[in-house]
Order: sequence, then C-alpha cells, then structure tokens
Amino acid sequence: MQARTVSAPAKINVILEVLGRRADGYHDLWSVLVLVDLCDTVTVAPRKRGILLTVRPPVVPAGPGNLAFRAAEAFFETWGRPGGAAITLRKRIPVGGGLGGGSSDAAAVLAALNAMTGRPLTRERLLDLAAGLGSDVPFFFSGGAALITGRGEQVADLPPPPPRWLVLALAGEPVSTAWAYGQLPPGGRRLPDPTWTAAAAAGQTERLLGMAFNRTEEVVFKARPDLAALKAHLVALGAAPVGLTGTGAALFGFAPERGAARAWSVALKAEKGQAWACRTLRENPIRAAALPG
Ligand code: C5P
Repeated sequence: MQARTVSAPAKINVILEVLGRRADGYHDLWSVLVLVDLCDTVTVAPRKRGILLTVRPPVVPAGPGNLAFRAAEAFFETWGRPGGAAITLRKRIPVGGGLGGGSSDAAAVLAALNAMTGRPLTRERLLDLAAGLGSDVPFFFSGGAALITGRGEQVADLPPPPPRWLVLALAGEPVSTAWAYGQLPPGGRRLPDPTWTAAAAAGQTERLLGMAFNRTEEVVFKARPDLAALKAHLVALGAAPVGLTGTGAALFGFAPERGAARAWSVALKAEKGQAWACRTLRENPIRAAALPG
C-alpha cells in the first residue's frame, strides 16, 4: 500500500435556506454548494494498526475529536479488515468559518483509504459512511457543485459553473452552527423559492450563483455586527453577490476577475482581517481520488 495525498477543498453555500426543524433536532435544508480552490492537503500513509493523526499547524484536535480521525476508524470498521493509517492534515481552510474544512478532510481520508486498499467500498457505501460522520461530508464526494437537501446528506450534482474568482473574508470568533440554527424562529415549514428550484432543475448553476441567499444571516448578523459590517465592506468594494457561507463566520464576495479578487484580499488583510482570493472549482479532487475513471 502506498501513501496518498489528496487536496481537500473548501465549500461555499451560495444559497442556504432552512426549510424547518425536524423531530430529530436537525434542520431540513435546501442549499446550493460550490467547491473553491482554498484547500487543505491530506496525506494518508499505511500503518499496521491504529490511527495516528498530525495536524499542521495544530488548529484542531489530533485525536478522536477530529472528524478525519473518525473517518479512518469508520473506514476500517466498514471494510471489516484490520488496518491503520498515519494521517497528516496540512490546514489552510480556516476553522469555524462555515467552509466545511473538517468535513472535506474527512471525505479526503475516506477517498485516500479507499484508493489505497483497492477500492473495497462502492460509492454508495462511501456516501453512507460519509453521512454518518456529518451532514456536510457526502457533498465532498460530488462533482464540485450540488444541491443538498435533507439535513445535508442528500446530494444532487449540479453542473460545475465556469471558474469564477471570489474573495473569502473572515473576522472575529467562529460561529457555532448549532447555535445559529437554534436562533431561527420555530414557525412552520418553508418551501424553497420557485426561481431557485427552476434554475436547479434546469442545471443553471451560474444563475444560482447570482441568486445568493442565506436564511441564517439575519440571526447571525444580529449577534455579530462585525460580520454585518464585513458584508457591507465587501459590497462597498464592489463584490457581488456577497453572502455568509454556512452559518459563518466566513463571507464570500464574487469578483469580476482575478485582479479584483486579489486587490480585495490585500485590502481586507491590511485591515487586520483574514482573506483569500480563490476560484470556484470545476472538478472535485476528492471524487477523483476515490473513484477515478
Ligand atoms: O451534522 P453535523 O455534526 O455537521 O451538525 C452540527 C450541528 O449543526 C448539529 O448538531 C445540529 O445542531 C446542527 N445542524 C442542524 N441541521 C442540519 C445540520 C446541522 O440543525 N441540517
């Protein structure tokens, strides 16, 4: 068995609608997700027994509290053979930003292990495993853009849009997802906007990018005026559309071209924020690693 290295990209929620609270405490979502080229690097090497995790820099725990660790455990349990892995995560995706870094790392670990062991698990079993790890994990086996429903585990691929430049910006403390969903007024069930469902049914991902919306912005911005100000700042720079990804604390702002995205990231960093110029991805490196051809 050879070691494998897989890029684990971040995601943004171009649209995030919360349809309602479920009996199991989760929320039914209707969300359009797109991968971007801000990536962690995940290396998995074979080991006789046990999981060994190294995180560089050490921004998240390296034990069973880490989803990547649990992904490796779950893989060997499902495969039904003894084995182990030495995993190294090179973290670039900020933690607690709503960018899905932890979920992406976990999916990359599953992909690497499946490739290293001669692909014993089908796509369906990998997706089942992924859904058991976290609501966002199955999306990271999609083709790069998808509509997710249910608690996030139901993934319908959308055609990836032509590459678009954007800036990701982050300020202050992370936002807890459970807290943000919990702040939404209970109320009845919502339906997704018909213009979104029509664009999704027609596979018009680029049109969906222009319809950016996030149901959690109102409650998050109420508690976090710094994030509301960051959105206003991105709008003033000329970014469009601008929105929160997941429940934050990162925001995305689309740029007309590379130069603008770069200039905005430089300006935001100069103001002591964190920012990255990046591009939407046309292909998902995790899917390519797990199921080539
Ligand atoms: O599934 P995951 O562990 O990623 O979710 C983290 C938390 O976010 C859940 O415990 C739940 O409180 C909230 N959540 C939710 N509805 C979803 C996804 C997450 O309420 N669809």
